[in-house]
Amino acid sequence: MKKDPLIIFDTTLRDGEQSPGASMSRDDKLRIARQLERMRVDVIEAGFAAASNGDFDSVRSIAEAIRESTVCSLARANENDIRRAGEAIRPAARGRIHTFIATSPIHMEKKLRMTPDEVVAQAVKAVGWAREYTDDVEFSAEDAGRSEIDFLCRIFEEVIRAGARTINVPDTVGYNVPEQYAATIRTLIERVPNSDQVIWSVHCHNDLGLAVSNSLAAVMAGARQVECTINGLGERAGNASLEEIVMAVRTRADVFPVETRIDTTQIVPASKLVSQVTGYPVQPNKAIVGANAFAHESGIHQDGVLKHRETYEIMRAEDVGWGANKLVLGKHSGRNAFRARLQELGITIGSEEQLNNAFARFKELADKKHEIFDEDLHALMRDESVTPEAEHFRLIASRFHSETGEKPQAEITLTVGGSEQSTCAEGSGPVDAAFKAIESIVDSGCELLLYSVNAITTGTDAQGEVTVRLARQGRVMDGQGADTDIIVASAKAYLNALNKLHGGGHKLNPQV
Ligand code: KIV
Ligand code: ZN
Repeated sequence: MKKDPLIIFDTTLRDGEQSPGASMSRDDKLRIARQLERMRVDVIEAGFAAASNGDFDSVRSIAEAIRESTVCSLARANENDIRRAGEAIRPAARGRIHTFIATSPIHMEKKLRMTPDEVVAQAVKAVGWAREYTDDVEFSAEDAGRSEIDFLCRIFEEVIRAGARTINVPDTVGYNVPEQYAATIRTLIERVPNSDQVIWSVHCHNDLGLAVSNSLAAVMAGARQVECTINGLGERAGNASLEEIVMAVRTRADVFPVETRIDTTQIVPASKLVSQVTGYPVQPNKAIVGANAFAHESGIHQDGVLKHRETYEIMRAEDVGWGANKLVLGKHSGRNAFRARLQELGITIGSEEQLNNAFARFKELADKKHEIFDEDLHALMRDESVTPEAEHFRLIASRFHSETGEKPQAEITLTVGGSEQSTCAEGSGPVDAAFKAIESIVDSGCELLLYSVNAITTGTDAQGEVTVRLARQGRVMDGQGADTDIIVASAKAYLNALNKLHGGGHKLNPQV
């Protein structure tokens, strides 16, 4: 049977970044975009260009760097947003503008304070502005999942006439259930004039845990683009997870009339990269990319798999990229091998000086841990990419003492804006003591919202990667730090979050 292409539209860098604290730097986004391109994602939603100058730069850099995937910017349905998006995607080999306006009664009345007629008129104008930049225009009816079907038919008819090529039907608040959502898609395709001239797209949120099911039901009803994210990252409970959509369609090729272009062996490396960059750990039992997704615990299962793999396995671990994290480098590896591996990972080195610094840090790490994996290189290069200007607070030295029956102590030396300060503090554990010592210097008044530790690779010599989420005056920022010593990693992560809160014109404390 001839299959239709299913367009995979990845929005990790846009909706995924809307996960609390998961903001990513331009370099982080570029690295993820390169991995998405390597995975053969059709469309990369690189960001929301009008949101800030930083977002604009990120979308533009991705548009410059990516050649194989379409690069898209989100834009509200107003002229300024659309022109910013149009400028940002200009360098792309293939660029798309994705414009949206809300269509549900509650959003139109309470949020937009616009009549349905005004909403239709604005949507049509928005598509017209976007078409000045590209033929590839996508229109989304925000909160379509709670919109009236007659109104959806009307607005979609108008935006198709205005030149939209992709029509997206988001379940913005994750309210829909599979049969009903599929029926909505089927009705729209049947009723909207010229529906066969456009691609019908779905974008499902996971508030009821149904994002993947709803998306797949919609595919059975005729949708030919799915918007999704790596690890299901995204606003609130997240979006449909890319890896689950792709592997469902591939594994159940007998059921789905579609196929994707995705190189599935790049899925696990992409998942690890996104988790590392955002600090969002992947739950061990997460389908496809969780550490236990292919682990068989019970004796009966193990016996079955050993006799014949397909007794208990519907997919092969290697097909989704497990085992692809090769041992890449070690203590004796040279500078050229180091540079070559970074290039393969899509990590660009700005100058010889940066390469020399990174190589020196690599050698230090290789002394502590003789097997260096790709994940270690990503963590190392993330630390390396922090510029001195962005590192107002820098860890210089640390000493920790913890002994049975004694209160743990931490001695910390930092530079604060270049000048060195040291202090000592006690805590309920060494991490608590380290954070208290940092706070006694910085006095930021931040609230600690989240602290998590993950081993980057396997083995007791693995680097621990710590994520710390801090809040201050309504701003929330995640910091990450990696080290073979998890208390040092914790201190680095805390300082990384403080540096982010301190940057961009905000001062944490006038005294520091
Ligand atoms: O969830 C949503 O409705 C969105 C749109 C902007 C597509 O993210
Ligand atoms: Zn969304």
